[in-house]
Amino acid sequence: METQTVLSGYEQAEILQKAVDSLNVTAALRYLAEKFAGQITFSTSFSFEDQIITHEILAHEIGIEIFTLDTGRLFAETYSVWSKTNDYYNAKIKAYYPQAADLEAFINQKGINAFYESVENRKSCCHIRKVEPLQRALKGKKLWVTGLRADHSPERSNSQSVEWDEKNQLIKFHPLLHWKTEECWEYINMNRIPYNPLHQKGFVSIGCSPCTRAIQIGEDFRAGRWWWEDQSKKECGLHTK
Ligand code: ADX
Ligand code: SF4
Repeated sequence: METQTVLSGYEQAEILQKAVDSLNVTAALRYLAEKFAGQITFSTSFSFEDQIITHEILAHEIGIEIFTLDTGRLFAETYSVWSKTNDYYNAKIKAYYPQAADLEAFINQKGINAFYESVENRKSCCHIRKVEPLQRALKGKKLWVTGLRADHSPERSNSQSVEWDEKNQLIKFHPLLHWKTEECWEYINMNRIPYNPLHQKGFVSIGCSPCTRAIQIGEDFRAGRWWWEDQSKKECGLHTK
């Protein structure tokens, strides 16, 4: 009788890594979309990296669902690029929202801008507005595509482009992990991809409006995110391991 080997998530990620290593971004997305049909999803924050991946998926009609987590505190410009992207590609990017009851309880108890008062409040806000909706978005999925790049932070530079996500129990794929910022912008300009106009005003990494500011030349990529906090605490929980 034939025995079947059950591979661990880490082993599966390793095998997929080898398979996509020789492929370009379009081919890798297509390969994974076929292999994980109906179980693969891409999360977009409409960052310039995410817009490249959205372009790859929609312009090449690759079967990967696209969703965003609308925290309710995004910049007006982010909502504009979201709407523009839907129009441009004739697409409907799916939105996930925080649970109303949890958000109401948090705001009524702590205040509308409580995230400035403590790291604990900030993490609770991120949990309600991003992490819990993410968990719903990933339900039933086996592969999660993201726009993470190694240049974002030392932690991200230690990632593999295909990795097992123990927390969410699925495989993550970061197709642009090794792309440099200049390379991204060349690609965007060459392909006339719509992007958030805030990127032209010194905003590099963009999240919620009260928690993001423009950066100065020479500052770190993520210096404009939760700038009032200690450097070591600056993750919202979407990508913590
Ligand atoms: S965060 O953890 O600090 O907020 P970051 O803004 O660097 O993340 O984005 C990294 C990746 O996380 C994006 O490329 C995207 O895949 C995902 N992401 C971040 N914010 C959102 C969001 N609001 N909606 C959907 N995906 C998001
Ligand atoms: Fe709340 Fe700021 Fe986190 Fe957005 S980034 S969810 S506003 S704490």
